[in-house]
Amino acid sequence: MKEIVVHNKKFRKLIPSARIQKAIVSIANRIDRDFKDACPLFISVLNGSFIFSADLLKNVKCECEISFIKVCSYSGTQSSGNVNMLIGLNENIEGRDVIVLEDIVDSGNTLEKVIEELKKYRPASVKVAALFFKPNAYTKKIKLDYIGIRVPNKFLLGYGLDYNGIGRNLKDVYILEDSR
Ligand code: IMP
Ligand code: MG
Repeated sequence: MKEIVVHNKKFRKLIPSARIQKAIVSIANRIDRDFKDACPLFISVLNGSFIFSADLLKNVKCECEISFIKVCSYSGTQSSGNVNMLIGLNENIEGRDVIVLEDIVDSGNTLEKVIEELKKYRPASVKVAALFFKPNAYTKKIKLDYIGIRVPNKFLLGYGLDYNGIGRNLKDVYILEDSR
């Protein structure tokens, strides 16, 4: 499928699934190299990151744990800028090496909030792995340690990313066609 319509908006295929999987294997290899003798705790930011997190962990070989948190910042196709608090952090992360898993980093508002909150619990280190990154939308200084694929500053759909709830199950990533 080269084109799809979701909630009356047209999207066209941008990133095929094979390219996504390759980027994930590359992130996993870099993490294995950096955490050979450690046991990092992955913190996956739901909902969007659930597919990325599963595929990434299947490729990571070092000993590791995973936990899931939730924040909410997006409504429709525009970042709202309001980021709510974290929910679901049950692990004691004090002294742990944490790797935050984000499906996509856009403005960076969500990531900044997540990191600010996590640091209150005094982890030993916090790194960030983002499958997709929109450099032209990013407004923050936080370093992204592992980046999968840089993408244009446009609305994307698929592989965990939704448009008002729809499209997370798509294996490829689609881009919103400019409305004329
Ligand atoms: P940020 O706070 O602006 O960086 O946006 C982060 C969150 O917004 C991501 O974790 C996604 O859940 C969502 N998001 C950002 N860009 C897109 C997109 O292009 N499509 C779907 N969701 C997006
Ligand atoms: Mg997200």
